[in-house]
Amino acid sequence: MDEPYQASPDVYVLPTHLPIPGMGNLVINSYLIRSDEPVLIDTGLAGSPLDPDESAHFIAAVESIVPLRDLRWIWLTHDDMDHTGSLPKVMELAPQARLATHAFSALRMASWWPVPLDRVHAMRLDDRLDVGDRTLRAVAPPTFDNPVSTGLVDEKTGTLFSVDSFGAILPEVTTDCAEIAPDVVRQGMTAWLTMDSPWTQLVDRDKWDAVLDGVRRLAPAMIMSSHLPAARGTCETFLGIVRALPDAEHMPAPNHEQFQQMLSMMGPPPGANGAPAPAAAAAAAGA
Ligand SMILES: [Fe+2]
Ligand SMILES: [Fe+2]
Repeated sequence: MDEPYQASPDVYVLPTHLPIPGMGNLVINSYLIRSDEPVLIDTGLAGSPLDPDESAHFIAAVESIVPLRDLRWIWLTHDDMDHTGSLPKVMELAPQARLATHAFSALRMASWWPVPLDRVHAMRLDDRLDVGDRTLRAVAPPTFDNPVSTGLVDEKTGTLFSVDSFGAILPEVTTDCAEIAPDVVRQGMTAWLTMDSPWTQLVDRDKWDAVLDGVRRLAPAMIMSSHLPAARGTCETFLGIVRALPDAEHMPAPNHEQFQQMLSMMGPPPGANGAPAPAAAAAAAGA
């Protein structure tokens, strides 16, 4: 767990990151919107190679911003492991909170942990959630690694929470995308998105442009990706990167030799010190 930070007057970022040996770092963000009815977006990792007490630290970080007893909504963008880590614990500690997510996200999770389905508020695209002083509208992220992926726009502030879209593998972990050189962002975003959404090499150009126009019409003032530091005023730049994905070189998965090299860079093998080292490599294959 990294240090939480405030990205805008009412949005706090709860970040962590995974080092991916030989490639860089993958930021993993959850968010807290301090709306009248506070909303937690995603719940981070259950554990990490850098922080075996990741989940406890995540809970403490949420609690330091909004008491869990006051939390009213958990918006789960999708049921991937890097978004659901502390979800059972948060639901236990936040009895007023309802889980806003795709119906199939909830039903699928119920096959591996006892999701309190009576607290699920099923969301589909274009649905709006009233959280007191604003509405949150469900939107489709332009790229995704999971068909239930459900992003959102805060209609009060124009902030787009873009799920895995616009993520990047970066050499340094920062709290503001503007601190990273534009070329580094472009390379890191292309690397991440071609791995996370390899289907982008198959898209029809006209349909792809229509998808990106849909994002453009949202005119997001800020983009809060699950895998990038907070970004302000970057929509056109990011759309340009995403538009080029069909022609970008798609990074192959590590072969066994490269995998062994990654493990040696991570240190002791899993189990030797209790660290769940392979998590980083798994995240590199899609998170
Ligand atoms: Fe994902
Ligand atoms: Fe993710």
